[in-house]
Amino acid sequence: MCGIVGYTGTRNVKDILVEGLQKLEYRGYDSAGLAVHNGYLEIVKSKGNIDELRKKVIDMHDGTIGIAHTRWATHGEPSERNSHPHVSFSGDLVMVHNGIIENTDELKSRIKIKGYKCVSDTDTEVLLNYIDYKYQNNGKRILEALQDSLADVVGSYAIVIIEKAHHNRLVICRQGSPLVIGYDETGTYVASDIYALADHTDRFVFPDDGDIVIAGNNGIGEAFTSTGEAKVFCEKRYVIEDRGAGKDGFDHYMLKEIFEQPKIVSELVSGGINFESNIYSAKEIDKILEKIERITILGCGTSWHSGLIGRYIIEKYARIPVNTEYASEYRYRDPVITPGELVISISQSGETADTLAANKLAREAGAVTMGILNVRNSTLERNTDFQLYLKAGAEIGVASTKAYTSQLVIISLLTAYLGRLRGNGDNVSELAFSLQFLSGFMTEALKLSGVIKSIAHKYSVSDNFLFLGRGFNYPSALEGALKLKEISYIHAEGYPGAEMKHGPIALIDYHFPTLAIVTDRENRSKMISNIQEIKARGGKVIAFLSSDDKKTTSLVDDSLVLPSVPDVLSPILTAVPLQLFAYYIAVERECNVDQPRNLAKSVTVE
Ligand code: G6P
Repeated sequence: MCGIVGYTGTRNVKDILVEGLQKLEYRGYDSAGLAVHNGYLEIVKSKGNIDELRKKVIDMHDGTIGIAHTRWATHGEPSERNSHPHVSFSGDLVMVHNGIIENTDELKSRIKIKGYKCVSDTDTEVLLNYIDYKYQNNGKRILEALQDSLADVVGSYAIVIIEKAHHNRLVICRQGSPLVIGYDETGTYVASDIYALADHTDRFVFPDDGDIVIAGNNGIGEAFTSTGEAKVFCEKRYVIEDRGAGKDGFDHYMLKEIFEQPKIVSELVSGGINFESNIYSAKEIDKILEKIERITILGCGTSWHSGLIGRYIIEKYARIPVNTEYASEYRYRDPVITPGELVISISQSGETADTLAANKLAREAGAVTMGILNVRNSTLERNTDFQLYLKAGAEIGVASTKAYTSQLVIISLLTAYLGRLRGNGDNVSELAFSLQFLSGFMTEALKLSGVIKSIAHKYSVSDNFLFLGRGFNYPSALEGALKLKEISYIHAEGYPGAEMKHGPIALIDYHFPTLAIVTDRENRSKMISNIQEIKARGGKVIAFLSSDDKKTTSLVDDSLVLPSVPDVLSPILTAVPLQLFAYYIAVERECNVDQPRNLAKSVTVE
């Protein structure tokens, strides 16, 4: 969350910063700001998205060093006053920050008695003033000031500072939040991710936790580790894939991404399983996978939902015990981690703070770690033993769609791979075989968008929704409810069908509709019983059915009939109409589909 861009060199910095922020807007978009050092520090800020800031930047003087920030608020409401860059109390330092400072109160009281005052409500300004205080005490030597101050800071941060006294150097530190430094013949860049720098360079270095870097116009001048030792970075060269620019004629990125799914799935299935690793060879990975006795899957949000389905699929077909957990819970609950167990972290971005921390915990305890990732060159890539890539291309819509179905396909392919490797070939052959037809069925499902739109129109006035599913489609119910909440702001709950009787049924009345997922055969009769229980209480029911179900349509108020697929693939197919249903309701309610309020694509704070 929060995006940072900075540059020092010989080019006009304003364009670099604004274009960089635009690419980082998925990280937060409630306010933005930019500082340019033109001999003096000039700062502009605006509430709202980058377009608002862009208008103000036109009137700024040009300069060749600057920093910029797009914000997702943690401390203090979205406002110009709270937006970054912040200027220190002395006026000597200007800073942008991504992360959360946890001991803000303590730091604030320490500087308050020294006469420091803050003008914003942010933890960032407190941190900056604490650094400023140490800066003044250390003869305005920034390195000493940072070494002195950051040792007292609890929390996560990626910070970039410009000193008023130096108009050709950026001071860069990180702890727990991502930052990448890039350079070309004109100067040095810094950003929260490499996509912001993709148009400028393919030469990067990645600071580690605790590093302090002083970068000048010719690249890194000085760099130090958290223990104060001089550090030499190893440059990495990456040619960066297209960030998915343009909506290709669709009204929203989300809709474009929903429609991209059949092609991505088809390519994934034909590509099969290809592990990537800097540590192990393919043979070594196979040896590890042959022996593992249990798997833990970690993730957040939609990635956690695909991990839940992963548990069902891997256990049923590859017969390996699987536990799926919220990364945010796992990291703090002192879990039993068996050395040699496989821990799979699922993350579209590879930058979700809780997933990174949970993965780190597992790795340090001796687990073998694997990432299922979409974005390349992420922190999670660097911190896992091997990786599988979704190859879904850039996902710009904040609500995940194509990454989710790609995760499910990768998990299905992995299950088939594990099954064969471990002598369960017969068990997984149905899964492997039917995956080949999935893309075609998804195309069929997309053809139903008109029907889905009209159902969405009918129910768009509802303020509450219950999503029910069982077995493989219990997590589908969670994901369907999450999609609706995220983009249309309708309260929605996902429940396993049987659990409805333990509470949610009390909510059911004429105004509280249920979307029942009945696209798998195994649980059909049980789901039908649940539907009847709802109908008996006057509730409205929309059912997502499969074409071999001849009965259920007559029981419900509205239905959508999907192609019949093996149960194991039904969550992947069902995801398509669930996404479209949420999308059309959000459009009907005139919500900002691609940038829903309060959300961010990459949650880099815990
Ligand atoms: C945010 C996004 C979700 C995503 C979740 C996990 O909440 O808005 O779409 O599922 O983070 O992100 P990750 O990048 O780890 O998959």
